[in-house]
Amino acid sequence: MTSQLVDYDSLIPNNVGLADDPKLRRALEAWHPGYIDWWMSMGPEGFQVADVYLRTAISVEKDGWAKFEFVKMPEYRWGILLAPPIEGRTIPCGEHYGEPAWQEVPGPYRAMLRRLIVIQGDTEPASVEQQRHLGSVAPSLYDMRNLFQVNVEEGRHLWAMVYLLQKYFGRDGREEAHELLQRQSGSDERPRMLGAFNEETPDWLSFFMFTYFTDRDGKMQLEALAQSGFDPLSRTCRFMLAEEAHHMFVGYTGVARIVQRTCEAMNEAGIEDPYDAEAVRALGVIDLPTIQRKTNLHFSLTLDLFGSEESTNAANFFNAGIKGRYHEDRLDDDHRLVSDTYPVTKLVSGLLRPVEVPALNGLNARLRDDFIDDCQGGVTRWNRSIAGSGIEFEIRLPHVAFNRAIGEFTDIDVSPTGKVLTREDWKAHRDGWLPTSDDKTFVETLMQLEVRPGRFAGWISPPTKGIQNQPEDFLYVRLP
Ligand SMILES: [Fe+2]
Ligand SMILES: [Fe+2]
Repeated sequence: MTSQLVDYDSLIPNNVGLADDPKLRRALEAWHPGYIDWWMSMGPEGFQVADVYLRTAISVEKDGWAKFEFVKMPEYRWGILLAPPIEGRTIPCGEHYGEPAWQEVPGPYRAMLRRLIVIQGDTEPASVEQQRHLGSVAPSLYDMRNLFQVNVEEGRHLWAMVYLLQKYFGRDGREEAHELLQRQSGSDERPRMLGAFNEETPDWLSFFMFTYFTDRDGKMQLEALAQSGFDPLSRTCRFMLAEEAHHMFVGYTGVARIVQRTCEAMNEAGIEDPYDAEAVRALGVIDLPTIQRKTNLHFSLTLDLFGSEESTNAANFFNAGIKGRYHEDRLDDDHRLVSDTYPVTKLVSGLLRPVEVPALNGLNARLRDDFIDDCQGGVTRWNRSIAGSGIEFEIRLPHVAFNRAIGEFTDIDVSPTGKVLTREDWKAHRDGWLPTSDDKTFVETLMQLEVRPGRFAGWISPPTKGIQNQPEDFLYVRLP
């Protein structure tokens, strides 16, 4: 099998030699109709027959891996693509450090691996479900196209995890693959597995925040799984990361364009006080404090996805060599961590302070800290643009203990700056820190469909350049 070449002519484009694996091919072909049913009933609502300018992966090489063309989403070529193998790759962490990477599921870790793959797989269709109503209020054809690009790629990520389940986990893999199409974001009976994936994405500000923060959690998880000693998982995740980068680009630039438009409108109108929400909103743009409250919400919800700060599961995954740290292969230590410690923020006698815990138990906290560093870059650039417009306002990431529902800080109330509060104090300030129903109603009034080529809703600036350098008035989505 030449892994770089993608068999593009079969029903399921792939570089995993599906043509020579009839059993797997049959299993995937049996799963396919259910997937299409799911896409038609839970995917982007109202745009299934539109022609969308989408990229499709056609190779796994670093350059030229994608082609761009008009496709109807239900006809998108969802494929199974693994990054090229790394010659002589070894297990990068834990007890088996340095042994050859596994090409088959290691028996003792089968259940753990399956669980990791199912949890990752569950997030992919969840976000498509969360975003399914956004097409009908897209601020431009450019943005609509980006939404659909993210959606089809999350669909492909589901395929990626389903491939691993079907290929390596036999009957229970098939059952899990089936279940992935049964759970539904926000459902009372069968919700998605993780909290943030059951929240609504009611408007485009939420969408951009979600793709900036929550897709970045996805990136961190994929980075950690790309360090798996189970090589098929590693290769799958490495290729998914190439797609994930665009999702975070959509989020980063989306918020940046909203911020830019708000600042421009304020300057044109001579409004200096960013907290004069009434005056700013009267201009038809989103006031900066609302953007801060949205940041607080999406950041804190996303932190919950990293799980408890101290976790024996995380220690077991690492010890087993099936999930590594962020950039494990670039870290300079013994990759076993048996006698190391890691500082984890905890509540000690009423104060939040770092406490050294065994490094193996603190791996969730560590990945979360790497995530926070990764988030800061874009926030700094948003702030540079605000400062550049001469407006005094800074968007800040809230403290790690703010508004948390999982782990160490679940039962305490903490301000965005990290001050431990009484319940009453929290309640008194809550509406200044998290989106209010008033914010939601206001943002909803701005959500109007704009489909004239080259035109953008008044609350968001045009992008600096088009997808594939297309001109500003390019018809990214051809509506029927
Ligand atoms: Fe994804
Ligand atoms: Fe994503």
